[in-house]
Amino acid sequence: MERPLVVLAPLAEVTDAAFRAVAFDAGADAATTEMVSAAGLVRGSRNTPPLLERLPEERGRPLSAQLYGHDPDELAEAARIVAGLGRFAAVDLNAGCPMRRIVANGDGAALMRDHALLGRCVAAMARAAAPLPVTVKTRIGTDPEHPAAAELAHVCEDAGAALLAVHGRYASQAHAGPVDAARVAEAVAAVRIPVLANGGVLSAADALALLRATGAAGAMVGRGALGAPWLFAQIKAALSGAEPPPPPSPAERAALAKRHLALSLAWHRRLRERFPESGGPDPETAAVLDFRRHLFHYFRGLPGSAALRRAMGLASTVGGIVAAIDASFAS
Ligand SMILES: Cc1cc2nc3c(=O)[nH]c(=O)nc-3n(C[C@H](O)[C@H](O)[C@H](O)COP(=O)(O)O)c2cc1C
Repeated sequence: MERPLVVLAPLAEVTDAAFRAVAFDAGADAATTEMVSAAGLVRGSRNTPPLLERLPEERGRPLSAQLYGHDPDELAEAARIVAGLGRFAAVDLNAGCPMRRIVANGDGAALMRDHALLGRCVAAMARAAAPLPVTVKTRIGTDPEHPAAAELAHVCEDAGAALLAVHGRYASQAHAGPVDAARVAEAVAAVRIPVLANGGVLSAADALALLRATGAAGAMVGRGALGAPWLFAQIKAALSGAEPPPPPSPAERAALAKRHLALSLAWHRRLRERFPESGGPDPETAAVLDFRRHLFHYFRGLPGSAALRRAMGLASTVGGIVAAIDASFAS
């Protein structure tokens, strides 16, 4: 059997091109954009094209573009647009987001309530995106009274999905609580297409345990990689039977965080260049604001992290953040 894949999960407002580049450098095999509105894409909303940009530092690594919606025709049109961009390895359908505003609109996790509609959406996207593969990210069901992992997997496979990612929680759990690996295993056993198992991977040991319990073709890692991109290298080492490398030293973390910050600035400069009319703060301010979501995670639990957090709250420039990191950790 081939080595299982280790994939970065989509995290809205977190897994932008800068973070993806860091994750790819650390060994992630593939990644997914954050979810993008099919309606927004088709109707020309100015918010959507930036979500489908890439950075050269991602080095052309496999990235799928994730769409959300519930109208097969609209999703098909959006999939056609994504395929036409020529920069994605796949188009993914979000059939798992539990956020109220998404579900109330019939999107995300709402698709798990209507299997026939889910199948029509996947089939329409697969026809429109061909030869680009269409994949689906879903869950083990809407709530524990309605486990549906195997059925959902069947529906997606029959409709032409090339791969599934299954988050081992119910939509009713949102992103907390136990991951039910046995239910993910039901999805794996139900279909011939590869299934990635997702949920709760915070260490290489977690990834091995999830893969063992599910028989999945790969592990998809979300929050565990936040401020800890080295988790990908640790998981890959463990998969090859080696001892996972230890977490980086504080000075190594400082270097990684500064690289991530530099990429974030490059990312916002690129967006400003490509979409000068899109408004919003200047690239440096945007990078600083974005990076506040990441920086603390790099130093979580280390002595000095509380002081860094305070300094970071005051810093309003890239130079200010670099100085705060250097003062706390670079030596
Ligand atoms: C802040 C946040 C944003 C997320 N955004 C998305 C998204 O855009 N698309 C998606 O399919 N899942 C999204 N998810 C779900 C994650 O991809 C993943 O399924 C979930 O976090 C469980 O994996 P983990 O335990 O490894 O984090 C999001 C989760 C979080 C916490």
